[in-house]
Amino acid sequence: MAALKKLGILLSGRGSNFLAIADAIQSGRLKAEIAIVISNRADAPGLEAARQRGFNAQLVPSKGRVREEHDAEVIAALKQAQVDLVCLAGYMRLLSPDFVRAFPNRIVNIHPSLLPAFPGMDAQKQALEYGVKITGCTVHFVDEHLDHGPIILQKTVPVLDGDDLHSLAERILEQEHVAYSEAIGLVLSDKVEVRERRVVHKQSRAEGK
Ligand code: GAR
Repeated sequence: MAALKKLGILLSGRGSNFLAIADAIQSGRLKAEIAIVISNRADAPGLEAARQRGFNAQLVPSKGRVREEHDAEVIAALKQAQVDLVCLAGYMRLLSPDFVRAFPNRIVNIHPSLLPAFPGMDAQKQALEYGVKITGCTVHFVDEHLDHGPIILQKTVPVLDGDDLHSLAERILEQEHVAYSEAIGLVLSDKVEVRERRVVHKQSRAEGK
């Protein structure tokens, strides 16, 4: 049997997407293993949760540090853990070009909107205030621009008349937890490739499409 692909998880906060990935692996829905969890913040609840679950959990503080230096340390830890795929799970930092180049098409992110709508902070609030009727979440490859790289998959969530920020964010988060493991499975399966900005199934080339 082929060795399990190794994930490196980067987080800055709560870590519910990390835990959803860990649960998907534990239940056999996702064939992979978490080789390392890195937080740039000492107070991230996700870091504590990773420690409690016995993962290789490391703090690489970013506060007051030059981005490139901090990124170099994170890259070194990820390489040391021999990760195949880097998953940003609420990692609230823009990656330096060096970081992106270190893992070409091997860094993914989840964002709580249907990109390219509402990138950046508070995506759910932006959607609510704009008045869209449908929002959702996006899993995408990471490039050096914020919430920008090729889209792997998206899930939609209707905005209901009675929604407030809390209820909308909750329903989006439910979809995030499903979407992220699905997208990671797809990328690790090696069945998709990036053509320009589009993530497409490899077989469609053989079909001449
Ligand atoms: C998630 O909603 C994720 O989509 C968002 O941060 C939250 C982290 O929650 N990420 C972004 O906005 C990236 N631009 P979590 O720590 O519970 O996974």
